[in-house]
Amino acid sequence: MAKILQRERLVPNIHLIEIHSPEIARKCQPGQFVIVMPDEKGERIPLTIADWNRDKGTVTSVFMVVGTSTHKLSLLKAGDEVPVFVGPLGRPSKIEKFGTVLCAGGCFGIAAIYPIARALKEAGNKVITLLDVKANYLLYWEDRLKAVSDKFVVSSRDSFFNCKDYIPRVLGDILKKEKKVDRVISVGCTYLIYTCSEATRPKGIRTIVSLNPIMVDGTGMCGACRVTIGGKTKFACVDGPDFDGHQVDWEELFTRRKSYFEDEIDSLNYWEKINFP
Ligand code: FES
Repeated sequence: MAKILQRERLVPNIHLIEIHSPEIARKCQPGQFVIVMPDEKGERIPLTIADWNRDKGTVTSVFMVVGTSTHKLSLLKAGDEVPVFVGPLGRPSKIEKFGTVLCAGGCFGIAAIYPIARALKEAGNKVITLLDVKANYLLYWEDRLKAVSDKFVVSSRDSFFNCKDYIPRVLGDILKKEKKVDRVISVGCTYLIYTCSEATRPKGIRTIVSLNPIMVDGTGMCGACRVTIGGKTKFACVDGPDFDGHQVDWEELFTRRKSYFEDEIDSLNYWEKINFP
């Protein structure tokens, strides 16, 4: 059991959860994730670690409400406990002095990219942060990310921020203007990380994406998270979650992510019917 210290809605549909887990807080690194079960009957879901406090022994994740398990998680309060909280899992993101690194994030990936951007900044890189939101009221952690960025850009579909456009075009414009970008790292929904990869492919800029396929055990035992990278089968939970975006079989990933879509909707409808009749 792990105790929830904080659970708050950051913006519509996106929630922060802070959990007391000294062991995970002591060991976790940027890019890693945890597996959490919202209740005894729930499923195991992976959440990327967005921050931690090693002194207080706390781990923070930010998640989007998409199905039954994330709905359940969004209803928990400080003082509640989750029966399973396992981690840190996955390989940490590679952090070294690359030069100029562009960190691109959207939805839950805005929080997930934060510890990566912070570590890259501490390693002496010039950090360009590019965040994507549908509208201004969906942006969060702006101050935190600005504090670790040399340049900060938000693309959105309204006119509120500096770029009214979708992320791949804004990314393409930045790549044209910047003298040299040595690496791009992208975290967020599958479509966002796919489009970021495609935007950098013509220039051959090394692009790392954090994959979020279906996961069950998170330890390489079940095979649910298999992805194809450069023609080879990999398990995102133990070989990733970071992979070279130009090597990912995106068609397969999109198909696999959709495979339980109808079951997810049925499950959510059923759960809502019995809990909120
Ligand atoms: Fe089971 Fe990766 S989640 S092998």
